[in-house]
Amino acid sequence: MDEKSGGLAGITVGETAISTVGKKGKGLTYRGYSIEDLANHARFEEVAYLLIHGTLPTKVELNTYKKRLIQGQSLPIAICRVLEQLPVKTNPMDVLRTAVSTLGCLEPESLRHTAEFIADKLMSFCVSSLLYWYAFQTNDQHLTVISEQNSIAGHFLYLLQGHVPDAEFRKALDVSLILYAEHEFNASTFAARVCTSTESDFYSAIVAAIGTLRGPLHGGANEAAMKMINQYDDVPSAEAGTRLLLEQKAVVMGFGHRVYKESDPRTSIIKPWAKKLADRFGDPKKFLIAEAIERVMWDEKKIFANLDFYSALVYFYLGIPTSFFTPLFVISRLSGWTAHIREQRANNRLIRPLADYIGPDPRPYVGISERT
Ligand SMILES: CC(C)(COP(=O)(O)OP(=O)(O)OC[C@H]1O[C@@H](n2cnc3c(N)ncnc32)[C@H](O)[C@@H]1OP(=O)(O)O)[C@@H](O)C(=O)NCCC(=O)NCCS
Repeated sequence: MDEKSGGLAGITVGETAISTVGKKGKGLTYRGYSIEDLANHARFEEVAYLLIHGTLPTKVELNTYKKRLIQGQSLPIAICRVLEQLPVKTNPMDVLRTAVSTLGCLEPESLRHTAEFIADKLMSFCVSSLLYWYAFQTNDQHLTVISEQNSIAGHFLYLLQGHVPDAEFRKALDVSLILYAEHEFNASTFAARVCTSTESDFYSAIVAAIGTLRGPLHGGANEAAMKMINQYDDVPSAEAGTRLLLEQKAVVMGFGHRVYKESDPRTSIIKPWAKKLADRFGDPKKFLIAEAIERVMWDEKKIFANLDFYSALVYFYLGIPTSFFTPLFVISRLSGWTAHIREQRANNRLIRPLADYIGPDPRPYVGISERT
């Protein structure tokens, strides 16, 4: 195998009409719309609809869609009982993986529960499952999970904070959900497509994707970035600490990208939101520390901050527990995954690549009594 193609880097493995990532002259687009336009003008629900159905919704379609999202807020009693069994130390990504898998046992994909029907339900369902589990394990509380908020960001913040969220906070979260919604053949989406290509069911593809997103080189980077920012008390210690990490050849979380080589177009959209929230709270310390890390990474290695880095800070200012950062990525990316699962099904062929064999030459079998 060509050394460069390790990790399939630079290899095109299929076609998609859903998004462009780093394509010359196109930038990052969802179904042809620029990420800048979507983040500035659309709500997350419009973007999720666009990704899944291919067109921006009309007013009527959007209202119907939001009603379906609200219907997805309730949790079957069996799901509540399962969530109550999961220890407080469980990784919240495992909570989501388990909740989705359990729902797949209770309401398997069928002519009634189509992939689209399940997808609409899963976004609100994942928010409800995560917050129900959290409230039960931390406060022994059976949380009422129906918020009646007609947005995913509103539903999440309502369940987390216990009241109707501030409009600016809701908008900040909404923008991050838009930015996280879709990114072509990234690892978790590819996992969902591989699973789908075997003609497996919708839930299995989503569970495969959640498990893949969990790793720190993918979705887990936003949590790792926050933990790193939290290690520093001020700008000088952040600068020195980052230099040390680079000297040690460590991977600095929230930086770099497999496809983008000079910058991540999502960073210039999310960073101002981190600044806005820092100013609103009169608490610039973490923002200044983050900027110091970003500066050193660029000056020393010409490596740029990716979406995860400043999203982490936005979530921090919104008071979201660090361990919920990657689950929020799941909740948003469900829309992109669903679009890819549908696209894979529409023109399916089993995904089954080849490997170059580098093991031993053929050799005779050795009986157990003769082995040393
Ligand atoms: C995303 C990521 C896996 C892409 O990796 P990749 O395409 O395999 O990139 P490479 O490993 O080829 O990187 C090229 C060079 O940049 C360095 N590099 C890339 N990202 C780096 C980072 N975050 N910190 C330090 N060095 C980094 C590599 O060490 C390598 O240096 P070298 O040529 O001296 O060996 C990688 O940038 C990374 O691990 N980032 C941190 C995790 C993260 O934020 N993930 C979310 C991505 S949206």
